[in-house]
Amino acid sequence: MTAPARHTDTVHAQFDPQAKAYLTSAVHASGPDLIHAAERVLGAIPKEKGVVLDLGCGAGHLSYALAPHVARVVAADPSREMLETVRLTAGERGLPIETVQAAAGELPFDAGTFCVVASRYSAHHWGNIARGLGDMRRVVKPGGYLLMIDVVGDEDDLVDTHLQAMELLRDKSHVRNLKASQWRQAIARAGFDLLEERRWPLPLDFDTWVTRMRTPPERVAAIRTLMNDAPAEVREALAVTDDGSFTLQTGVFWARAA
Ligand SMILES: C[S@@+](CC[C@H](N)C(=O)[O-])C[C@H]1O[C@@H](n2cnc3c(N)ncnc32)[C@H](O)[C@@H]1O
Repeated sequence: MTAPARHTDTVHAQFDPQAKAYLTSAVHASGPDLIHAAERVLGAIPKEKGVVLDLGCGAGHLSYALAPHVARVVAADPSREMLETVRLTAGERGLPIETVQAAAGELPFDAGTFCVVASRYSAHHWGNIARGLGDMRRVVKPGGYLLMIDVVGDEDDLVDTHLQAMELLRDKSHVRNLKASQWRQAIARAGFDLLEERRWPLPLDFDTWVTRMRTPPERVAAIRTLMNDAPAEVREALAVTDDGSFTLQTGVFWARAA
């Protein structure tokens, strides 16, 4: 048996080849959360001074939504391929975005560098969210803002266990979708005061969902078995349809450095 990969190597194996797929992914390229994020940042900081961190930027959709409203966005991600996609796209669109290779909890920035520290659909891959949030708190200016956007887990443990299992089978680099209640605690512990929390349904087409992560056929079959055998409460909570498509919840947390 070959030695198992480290988690960070699995993250690279999952994401490095998928940068272009993420650039064109409808689920990632649009959404009410992006409009909401831009409104919050626009209302919170003066455009000419605003410096924003987009951590786990992937193909850059949060950066593209925020960049027109601030002086500069720093898009950070461990994946060089994602960063190259962001660099090229930002250049084509004339947006003030620079890229930095970095991972949550290991940010190569001085304390108090950013007016807003943000992250979208990335934290569920982080090995240690508390450490990641703590480091975001370090690099935000006093009185600066935190914007966290991610799929949230279900408060009901039965539903949540099925959801996390489906996610892990689909993507080996999945760690955990925090429940909203866990996000509130983690944000407070990191030293932020929560100002606002919003939720939007995120409908996912089953085939597109597994294709984007190149989930192997045996794992796709396991997810289908898990969904078919799931109790009625789980299927109802996830709004599972006949073709296996289902609906998750996107949580948006807007907080301020205490
Ligand atoms: C789904 S993509 C991000 C989507 C993107 N933020 C958007 O809004 O479309 C998840 C990204 O998280 C990155 N990632 C994984 N582990 C990370 C970590 N520990 N720190 C920072 N980014 C990480 C991956 O490389 C990947 O690019």
